[in-house]
Amino acid sequence: MQFISVAVFCLVFIPSWCLENLVFPPDFKFGVATAAYQVEGAWNVNDKGESVWDSVLHSQPSLTMDRSNGDVACDSYHLWRRDIEMAVELGVNMYRFSISWPRLLPTGFPNIISEDGKRYYNDLIDGLLEKGIEPVVTLYHWDLPQSLQDLGGWANPLIIEWFADYAKIAYTLFGDRVSTWLTINEPLVVCDGAYNKMWAPFLDDMKIGRYLCNKNVMMAHAKAYRIYDEEFRPLYHGKLSMPNIFFWFEPETPADAEVSDLLLQMWEGRYSHPIYSKTGGWPPEIEKVLAENGKREGYRQPRLPTFTKEEIDFVKGTYDFYALNHYTTRLVRKEKPGQAGPWPFYGCEELDVSVVNDPLWTTAVTDWFAINPEGLRKQLHWINSTYGVKDILITENGLPTVEKDLNDFTRLTYIKSNLEQILLAIDDGINVMGYTAWSLMDNFEWSSGYLVSYGLYSVDFTSPNRTRTPRDSARFYYSVIRTRSITSRQNELNYV
Ligand SMILES: *[C@@H]1O[C@H](CO)[C@@H](O)[C@H](O)[C@H]1NC(C)=O
Ligand SMILES: *[C@@H]1O[C@H](CO)[C@@H](O)[C@H](O)[C@H]1NC(C)=O
Repeated sequence: MQFISVAVFCLVFIPSWCLENLVFPPDFKFGVATAAYQVEGAWNVNDKGESVWDSVLHSQPSLTMDRSNGDVACDSYHLWRRDIEMAVELGVNMYRFSISWPRLLPTGFPNIISEDGKRYYNDLIDGLLEKGIEPVVTLYHWDLPQSLQDLGGWANPLIIEWFADYAKIAYTLFGDRVSTWLTINEPLVVCDGAYNKMWAPFLDDMKIGRYLCNKNVMMAHAKAYRIYDEEFRPLYHGKLSMPNIFFWFEPETPADAEVSDLLLQMWEGRYSHPIYSKTGGWPPEIEKVLAENGKREGYRQPRLPTFTKEEIDFVKGTYDFYALNHYTTRLVRKEKPGQAGPWPFYGCEELDVSVVNDPLWTTAVTDWFAINPEGLRKQLHWINSTYGVKDILITENGLPTVEKDLNDFTRLTYIKSNLEQILLAIDDGINVMGYTAWSLMDNFEWSSGYLVSYGLYSVDFTSPNRTRTPRDSARFYYSVIRTRSITSRQNELNYV
């Protein structure tokens, strides 16, 4: 053992033995996450404005599988004290939640700042801090004020200023107590998802709107970062990033290696390269493919809007760490033109590839969720080697189930396996700063409504009290946090 590191020994010889007592570094943080529209409810209390989700699900309830919406959800607007209590029960170091833009700014603009919105987020932040839990605040988790959507939403470049105004108000109100800010959650969903009829406002414009949005979210994030950097960081010394959702992609056969890399760039690079790469701007290979596709289709201007030199410099380097939401993995296969698929996986249609599951992976809920924890470690390596980013914070990771049982062994196992992969990556020399479980509790799961659960706590949506009850995964997570390790004892179910 003298000449061989523990990590190498473990990997080569007996990984299961080594993983039995793995310890997290002393400064590693554990957290749980939620998002405003998924938990708050109280969609129209006081002067709250309407969001795109309020608006579209009221007029078209069939857009969710169970015709539900977030009007009440977990009622966290009223039950936030219980949410804090649950975070305390788990022993987490941080609680990630989002501010509802239309709750704080009912018109979407800074002309009116809601006193009630201010009070709600102040109470939540102060309540967490009283218990020693760090608030990690997402500025935008998809609930755009409908008033701004009516003006074109994320396809209108003026949104860069609208978002910057909103961010500045949030920093001014809460920046003295919030030191980790996340700007725009999963911009891939904000653009590719919302313009592909899968997320509100359920638009259908994958050729143009999606790419206008892509450029505007990068600029809006950068502007919000620069404002913090110049006006607030000297006072509060906080950190900022933009959480990217990232499927890990691997080639199905060695012949698919090139398209697999391209799909990573299409998904991840389009939202990361402008910020994290040394050169900035779009990933060159993606800019080229999209320019060729556009030209062939008869467009005069690139469908993916170009960045000017000034814009490239403006966006480049606007991060303090890499924020990663990770869930699953796919294999990538080169297809003949027009055969892309099978599911509207963003980008496959531009690259003529399809994504498939490895038959060795088990799946959760439906086919979309393949379980391959090793993908997380590979992804962490990809971020390090592609961008040279040293610090990575896992801002989401979790497992969807249709079953609502309190005995959620599959979720517990999923979280355990992902934490093991994180420990291995840390051992490899990658600085993973912390882990955020999605989600603190069952909530409104977008177009799946309440049919799919991610919660460490179950929520009784039939009770007016929205009673929350810990699952086995909550007890497991508590035990990991308390011991700051994954121990063999946790393999048994009576870990606490
Ligand atoms: C991280 O990336 C850098 C740059 O490519 C590389 O030199 C380093 O070895 C990588 N670290 C790990 C732990 O792989
Ligand atoms: C809801 O909570 C109140 C106050 O704690 C309690 O009195 C009541 O019995 C609860 N109702 C249900 C249906 O759980």
